[in-house]
Amino acid sequence: MKNTVATILKQKQSGEKITMLTAYDYTTARIIDECGINSILVGDSLGMTMLGYDTTLPVTMEDMIHHTKAVTRGAENAFVVADMPFMSYQTSTYDAVVNAGRLIKEGGASAVKLEGGAEVCEQIRAIVDSSIPVVAHLGLTPQSVNAFGGFKVQGKTLERAKQIIEDALKIQEAGACAVVLECVPAKLAEIITEKLSIATIGIGAGNGCDGQVLVYQDMLGLTTGHTPKFAKMFADAGEAFRKGINAYIEETKNGTFPAQEHTFSIDDDIIAEIRGDLK
Ligand code: KIV
Repeated sequence: MKNTVATILKQKQSGEKITMLTAYDYTTARIIDECGINSILVGDSLGMTMLGYDTTLPVTMEDMIHHTKAVTRGAENAFVVADMPFMSYQTSTYDAVVNAGRLIKEGGASAVKLEGGAEVCEQIRAIVDSSIPVVAHLGLTPQSVNAFGGFKVQGKTLERAKQIIEDALKIQEAGACAVVLECVPAKLAEIITEKLSIATIGIGAGNGCDGQVLVYQDMLGLTTGHTPKFAKMFADAGEAFRKGINAYIEETKNGTFPAQEHTFSIDDDIIAEIRGDLK
């Protein structure tokens, strides 16, 4: 069954947990979709996972549209949310609406996600007024990595915890249909989840949220380098990849691949004639 903004709200109300994973390409989106996930996030984390940058900051609208198109071709039933990249909405409400519109029109996404609280409420309102659902993102918002001085847990002080709660109420009031809470203490995320009528989707925010999101490379053992503390490895696909690739290299070098069953045949008469012609 097709997941929509209504499905997410219904699950918030019924207490059925919402499942979300990132995807950035057709093949992965298809596999995730076939598993019955509620939502796929085309995250600007693709800057790191797909493009090899250190942060999400260099990701462009063209990058996001390119990957969103691939994901929406593979996702039949998942609610596809596309991230608005750095500086595609902070600059003005006009830019926010135009760029959100491109992710829907050109990318085929069903909703957009943007980072920030009170400071982006005008943009959220304008995008929602254009009939585009908006998912907000609070806590550790990776596009603010330079302002935060690194990828750090947010909301541990009374002042910052109160600010995140206020921001959550403001983005709800502005019309957001859900909010991602990233790297905030579990008890703070629980309070926010109780206070909001829209769904909270946690990443590094404990199990008191209405749902969870993970970067798929982190949960499948495909991340090279640092894996965040909150990212449980549910399967080691990285090891499966390495095993398969090493076997391919070995069998190609020793000539056991390709075997008879991997090759195509031709009539011996034709081969004899070709050989005759070559003489
Ligand atoms: O870009 C992304 O993948 C995200 C998730 C970490 C929530 O925003």
